[in-house]
Amino acid sequence: MAIIIKTSQEIEKMRRSGQAVREVLEHVRKFVKAGATTQDLENAAVAKMRELNATPAFKGYRGYPCVLCTSVNEEVVHGIPSAKRILKDGDIVSIDTGVILDGYYGDSATTVAVGATVPERTRKLLEVTEASLGRGIEAVKPGATLGDVGAAVQEVVEAGGFSVVRDFVGHGIGTKLHEDPQVPNFGRRGLGQKLREGMVIAIEPMVNAGGPDVQVLSDGWTAVTQDGSLSAHFEHTVAVTAKGAEILT
Ligand code: MF3
Ligand code: CO
Repeated sequence: MAIIIKTSQEIEKMRRSGQAVREVLEHVRKFVKAGATTQDLENAAVAKMRELNATPAFKGYRGYPCVLCTSVNEEVVHGIPSAKRILKDGDIVSIDTGVILDGYYGDSATTVAVGATVPERTRKLLEVTEASLGRGIEAVKPGATLGDVGAAVQEVVEAGGFSVVRDFVGHGIGTKLHEDPQVPNFGRRGLGQKLREGMVIAIEPMVNAGGPDVQVLSDGWTAVTQDGSLSAHFEHTVAVTAKGAEILT
């Protein structure tokens, strides 16, 4: 499959789907508190998507049952919202969502701490993971390579004393949730696909406090750290423009 270059009209549509994703995440994060369940977050997302007339991108994707992925603590990605999963003070929860608007996808994730009593190292994990996404985005410009992006992310993560997950990667995005190319959160400068104006990619570092290995639970979805350490996840959909990255979400 080839990388699909988007026209400025298509990128305008992706600004709208990206904006909708941002509004959903901003809405859902208000519901993160001790005692809330991950199903409460799912319900808030469903309501907001209805209000925005946005179609959920994840529900039904390869049989995935919900509009959000909610991954708590050692869960890395693809945690399934549940009325039985009650958030407590000191937890972290990654909220990942996507929508389709006018045929175009947006995809974004953020990780939120529950309550005010979050250990220092947990807070640092969130800060470093978000900063690694920022550095990856700063590396995006025409002529740069995916190795430049991955290396930028990886350096920030490893300098912080954490590790980058290898088994899941970011992706191209457009009229499908997952398009070429794959966007690893690790790599070497100068290697890999060259970026061109009009490409749109989702960069999504998944960062473990311990080792990089993950395993998928018997529900077929939930990925957890092999060593039980905490994991954080941030994601933005970004367009490659002549001036560099434009964050769409
Ligand atoms: N952000 C994730 C991804 O881009 C979410 C997909 S989960 C699924 O792969 F539910 F849609 F499968
Ligand atoms: Co994604």
